[in-house]
Amino acid sequence: LETGCLSIIVLGASGDLAKKKTFPALFHLYCQGFLPPDEVHIFGYARTKISDDELRNRIRGYLVSDRSASPSEDVSKFLQLIKYVSGSYDAAEGFQLLDRAIAAHEFSKSSQEGSSRRLFYLALPPSVYPSVCRMIRQYCMNKSDLGGWTRIVVEKPFGKDLDSAEQLSAQIGELFEEPQIYRIDHYLGKELVQNLLVLRFANRLFLPLWNRDNIDNVQIVFREDFGTEGRGGYFDEYGIIRDIIQNHLLQVLCLVAMEKPVSLKPEHIRDEKVKVLQSVLPIKDEEVVLGQYEGYTDDPTVPDHSNTPTFATVILRIHNERWEGVPFILKAGKALNSRKAEIRVQFKDVPGDIFKCKKQGRNEFVIRLQPSEAMYMKLTVKQPGLEMLTVQSELDLSYRQRYQNVTIPEAYERLILDTIRGDQQHFVRRDELKAAWEIFTPLLHGIDNGELKPTLYQPGSRGPAEADELSAKAGYVQTHGYIWIPPTL
Ligand code: BG6
Repeated sequence: LETGCLSIIVLGASGDLAKKKTFPALFHLYCQGFLPPDEVHIFGYARTKISDDELRNRIRGYLVSDRSASPSEDVSKFLQLIKYVSGSYDAAEGFQLLDRAIAAHEFSKSSQEGSSRRLFYLALPPSVYPSVCRMIRQYCMNKSDLGGWTRIVVEKPFGKDLDSAEQLSAQIGELFEEPQIYRIDHYLGKELVQNLLVLRFANRLFLPLWNRDNIDNVQIVFREDFGTEGRGGYFDEYGIIRDIIQNHLLQVLCLVAMEKPVSLKPEHIRDEKVKVLQSVLPIKDEEVVLGQYEGYTDDPTVPDHSNTPTFATVILRIHNERWEGVPFILKAGKALNSRKAEIRVQFKDVPGDIFKCKKQGRNEFVIRLQPSEAMYMKLTVKQPGLEMLTVQSELDLSYRQRYQNVTIPEAYERLILDTIRGDQQHFVRRDELKAAWEIFTPLLHGIDNGELKPTLYQPGSRGPAEADELSAKAGYVQTHGYIWIPPTL
């Protein structure tokens, strides 16, 4: 592992993302010893003129860790690592100041041998990415003779369609090399998303089954049981497809559908993901259902006649040898009846069935990403008792039960550690991003110009009835009378 000075600079330090995700993730890493105080310094940068202590007070309440033996002591020590610099996002002055602050810290720690590492985390709206990147490039790069690096971490939304995303990529690409750019999709940091690779390629059980001969359809579902709550202004500009489907669900699809990579090297994995994306056929309008929950436009920051979908079901079809004919049903919605994210791989019916158990439902392999992480396989078994009856049951690997003393790391915590270690496996590469936008841009333009309209649905419902009809038409068979119950501990 590299040693030497590590400076983590959180730009947009007083914003929501920094407070709720970035600083708490850094705190978790600190508590586990990944940010040794003799090497690490954290800088907050934003426009607001506040003192170090004011920033510390603003984030203190968000620092909670079950990884810490003495939490309040750890909170105070962690906060002492943080310094604040204020400045604008497009003028030299603030960034020169920031560079001096980082250099002073590097100097004070220079008794140690080693390189100097600078990690810039842009917890900012993408509109300022180009100017901030330019300023960093001009004034804040690592200058140590002993080596080290400068990296930048960026968050979605990376553009609004293919052209705007490509423009943004080109602007950033002129300033930084691809190995320096870490595009976060936090779904790639989730435990069960990371498990997909192991599950698929380390288990003989799945290898022969994972294809069009055995799998009837795949659903990747995201549901939230709350609306846009306070984020209406942001959300209305993007909608559910840009917010969830084009990035989070599509990334999951890649990992479910891709071929085995040559090795675990990030480039090998990302090469395979790109291939999947490039094999996706154009989306057909009749394989899309859009919804908007009633009351969405009551939010004062949302225009009265907004056409923005808060729900969408979109079927993707992958044109390759493994998946031809298998629908990938991507579904995401806000203000629905439950909160969960899961992958459902539904197998075909047993040919020549002698039990007449079709009504019981098909074999289904479910990967529950959240809440209550689990994998379970729905099977038909003999109903215990004297009669030869069948019943739907499951093989269940529920994490809470199986890994009782293990704390599952937060997505951001894992991903930030990767950025420090220089592992880009769980980050989106530029060509991957482009391929993702190519898939959705025609559909998004159709919605933006009002050709496609969302149907209203009741908050707290399953979404528009048309979505269930579309899934059924695509081949998904819902099992009636079976509910998986997560074990309680
Ligand atoms: C974000 C979206 O990327 O993911 C939000 O912008 C959404 O709208 C969130 O609520 C969901 O993340 P998670 O980790 O809670 O599933």
